[in-house]
Amino acid sequence: MTNQTAEHYGRVAATYDEHWTYSPDYVQRFSQAMIDALRLTRSDAIADIGCGTGLYTRRIARDVEPTRPILCVDPVPAMLDRLPARPALRPLLASAEDLASGRVALPDDTPLDAIVLKESVHHMTDREETLDGLVGLLSRHGRILIVMLPRTIQHPLFGAAHDRFQELQPDPADISDLLAAAGLRSSVSYRTFHVSIDRERYIHMLEARYMSVLGEFSDAELKAGIEQFRHSYRDTPVLRFDDHFAFVKGWVPPK
Ligand SMILES: C[S@@+](CC[C@H](N)C(=O)[O-])C[C@H]1O[C@@H](n2cnc3c(N)ncnc32)[C@H](O)[C@@H]1O
Repeated sequence: MTNQTAEHYGRVAATYDEHWTYSPDYVQRFSQAMIDALRLTRSDAIADIGCGTGLYTRRIARDVEPTRPILCVDPVPAMLDRLPARPALRPLLASAEDLASGRVALPDDTPLDAIVLKESVHHMTDREETLDGLVGLLSRHGRILIVMLPRTIQHPLFGAAHDRFQELQPDPADISDLLAAAGLRSSVSYRTFHVSIDRERYIHMLEARYMSVLGEFSDAELKAGIEQFRHSYRDTPVLRFDDHFAFVKGWVPPK
């Protein structure tokens, strides 16, 4: 993890849930889509890697009621500190790279039946090596779900933020290829979540750099971008946009 990433999440942790919960219904629908994609069951050993504050993990735990706690892995203490203290959630301060390389062992050395990586794959420093290592942690029923934004997004950001996002964001098809290279069957599909949000609330989210791409801009650049945004959306008190997500799935092929 780069220092910039660590600093970004250290800064946004306190307001993360407020800014990312577009609406309670959004979180509910999203979690259900991940549960369905992974076909999670109560008996699965589950890990959420890059779980952040556990905004989605809590929901998954509540709806799936796994018999073992969900392993909640994140390298940023300020994010993991926000994880509710519940028996169903087991925090582990580590990066995906730490787990993949074996620097940090899985608790009880139990293989994982399901790994969720929601919006954290773009932070991996060596995606090929890290995904290969994570695949090695799967049981023979293992599945992995990588949820990520596509390279082009419809969020109402300012122009420079869209450009920078496109430069940084990996292509879901390449991530699927990495899973296949690591020995899994893999597929990419897309889900759309409709978002409707007050413009003024969205401006607060931009000011708080709610997406990590906004951490790429200096205070002055962000201010200029928000002015541009204000101008573009001056007649739109409620913003409506489609949030498209790639669901990259990998599963251990049957023997
Ligand atoms: C956009 S947030 C997503 C959090 C959560 N999955 C969600 O959807 O609410 C990205 C998370 O990835 C974590 N992260 C950054 N680098 C990471 C790495 N190398 N390995 C695992 N997680 C990482 C950050 O600390 C942050 O909590």
